[in-house]
Amino acid sequence: MPDFALTSEQESLRDMARKFARTEMAPHAAECDRAGRFPEEIYRKAYDLGLMNLNVPSDYGGSGLSLFDQCLIVEELAYGCGGMTTSIIANCLALEPILLAGTPEQRTRVLSPFCASYQLAAFCLTEPSGGSDAGNLRTRARRDGDHYVLTGEKCFITNAPHASLYTVFATGDPNLRHKGISAFMVPRSAEGLTPGKDEEKMGHRASSTSTVRFDGVRVPASDRLGAEGDGFSIAMRTLDQTRTPIGALATGIAQAALDHAARYSLKRETFGKPISEHQAIQIKLANMAQSVRAARLLTWFSAWTIDSGHKGTLESSIAKCFASDAALHVADEAIQTFGGYGYMKEYPVEKLLRDAKLTQIYEGANEIQRTVIARELLRDYA
Ligand code: CAA
Repeated sequence: MPDFALTSEQESLRDMARKFARTEMAPHAAECDRAGRFPEEIYRKAYDLGLMNLNVPSDYGGSGLSLFDQCLIVEELAYGCGGMTTSIIANCLALEPILLAGTPEQRTRVLSPFCASYQLAAFCLTEPSGGSDAGNLRTRARRDGDHYVLTGEKCFITNAPHASLYTVFATGDPNLRHKGISAFMVPRSAEGLTPGKDEEKMGHRASSTSTVRFDGVRVPASDRLGAEGDGFSIAMRTLDQTRTPIGALATGIAQAALDHAARYSLKRETFGKPISEHQAIQIKLANMAQSVRAARLLTWFSAWTIDSGHKGTLESSIAKCFASDAALHVADEAIQTFGGYGYMKEYPVEKLLRDAKLTQIYEGANEIQRTVIARELLRDYA
């Protein structure tokens, strides 16, 4: 029989993340949002608690968690602050290509020292001209003896200004599209690698995002991940793994919005009674609760599918797409429940809407998720 009960270990993990989110993250969320501050002291504490390199096996110094367990943690963290969560889990995205395609030697050489202390990594796929069309990237990787020379620019790269390690996708020949792309590990110390200035963002303002320039960066061939030309597949398989936790992140934002709205509705009175007694508000809360639960269940199902050894391309796109759309809708309804107060920065719900918005865009815009879903779906009907 399917079982939705958590084990006692999973409950402990979830409770630990919940406590961290509510005592360490949430109290600083509004201030970091206002100032656009990157709270490194919080990220260091997250690292100390084992909340950072969730997907890296313990042999290499990570937490070695299943995708399901990662999702339990990510939802709780996002309840505290979506932006901080983005920065905390960006290592999982950036390190996944090494887990998927690195040789044992590369993993030991790079992951073990990386995970031994607080460090950040950045996943460098997106480019100013390419965006969603990842197969069309332009950053060049020219072979030069036993090195590659990387030249080009990436954009919207989470944690780039603070990272010590970058996983970079570059092409030997743009005319080959997907088949020309290779993946590389590049340390911050590499000459010619320059992160840009922090972008001013609408939401997720506690996270840091910038361009990264590669001006003739020499990378040893021994730091290429997989074979030449495997890069696109590595990127896609990475995103198959990491889109599910974005579903969890969006669910955490949505749950926070619902909780704020429900509590407020019990206190706020209009027409002589708490607004929770008005049917218009009850309907909103009921719809919000359905969206939150559906988002969580789709996320859990996707994580379970992948943990069971399936590829999960379809399920992860469904979870990410549904949960992020739900988060935006639930945050919007939370603002509506607060009325004019919800629009004010003094109250917590407008931030949730701004944070929810990005979950529809990053790790593949929801239009891309729908493209992936339709392609996967139609294959079964062909
Ligand atoms: N796993 C393995 N291989 C895959 C794959 C998958 N999930 N999806 C596609 N491929 C393979 C295909 O089988 C095909 O291989 P062959 O050439 O051998 O047949 C090849 O890749 C090309 O596939 P498509 O024809 O499907 O490629 P496409 O160009 O039509 O579309 C896409 C691909 C799905 C739209 C892809 O470009 C995509 O996912 N784009 C979105 C990129 C994205 O998510 N970016 C976000 C970056 S991370 C981020 O947001 C930053 C952050 O810091 C948070």
